Amino acid sequence: MQEAASAVRKATDRPFGMNLFVQKTPSPDAATVQKAIERLAPLYAEFGLTPSVPAQWCEDFNAQFETLLALKPAVASFTFGILTQPQVDQLHAAGCHVIGTATTFAEAEAWQAVGADAVVASGMESGGHRGTFLGDFQASMIGTLPLVAECAARLHIPVIAAGGIMNGSSIAAAQSLGAQAVQMGTAFLVCPESGIGPPTAKPWPQPRPATRAAPASTRAATHAASSTR
Ligand SMILES: Cc1cc2nc3c(=O)[nH]c(=O)nc-3n(C[C@H](O)[C@H](O)[C@H](O)COP(=O)(O)O)c2cc1C
Repeated sequence: MQEAASAVRKATDRPFGMNLFVQKTPSPDAATVQKAIERLAPLYAEFGLTPSVPAQWCEDFNAQFETLLALKPAVASFTFGILTQPQVDQLHAAGCHVIGTATTFAEAEAWQAVGADAVVASGMESGGHRGTFLGDFQASMIGTLPLVAECAARLHIPVIAAGGIMNGSSIAAAQSLGAQAVQMGTAFLVCPESGIGPPTAKPWPQPRPATRAAPASTRAATHAASSTR
């Protein structure tokens, strides 16, 4: 994080954001790991890969948070979980604007309640790139546009729309429902700056439905949710 922030600061004096996953370090048992590997195997096979057990499950969030406070980026954004109000207060005291990510209205309201300055409303079109932290994953499968509309109507903080936004007309649709900005992911995978490999980096034909453009992880998450209905 320190290297990344200093590289950005060397390149520009403009404000920038840093983004963290809010998560507890998991300690899954062997059977759970095996089940996950079996479930992922067909997806890996599509690309000629074999799933393996990661050497490290995730970074230590508390250590990352302390580093973030010391680095003081203009924006600190979070996904896959929520901060406490004292943590948000600490970031505000460090001069950071705080943005949370929500997959349901209840999560967006929770971010507003702990003092977030804005919330990303991440609809089900974000697929595997969204982390539900309150309630059932299946019950959180709400489309981006209805989620944005509800958040914009009922919250007093700005809403950033995310999920399935691929072009100007979908940005305009989100804005017309009250989004102040949008956050895009999949659409940037074919940019020159993207780190994805050549087979997937080929330009996609246009027009194409957003869900067809989603990577395997996104399709898997969407399928997992719809097949449990
Ligand atoms: C390859 C990839 C990596 C992503 N990594 C992050 C991340 O580290 N943190 C985050 O908050 N969102 C992350 N996202 C989610 C995006 O910020 C965005 O919310 C999401 O992709 C929106 O859905 P879309 O892919 O349909 O545009 C990622 C998305 C993609 C496609």
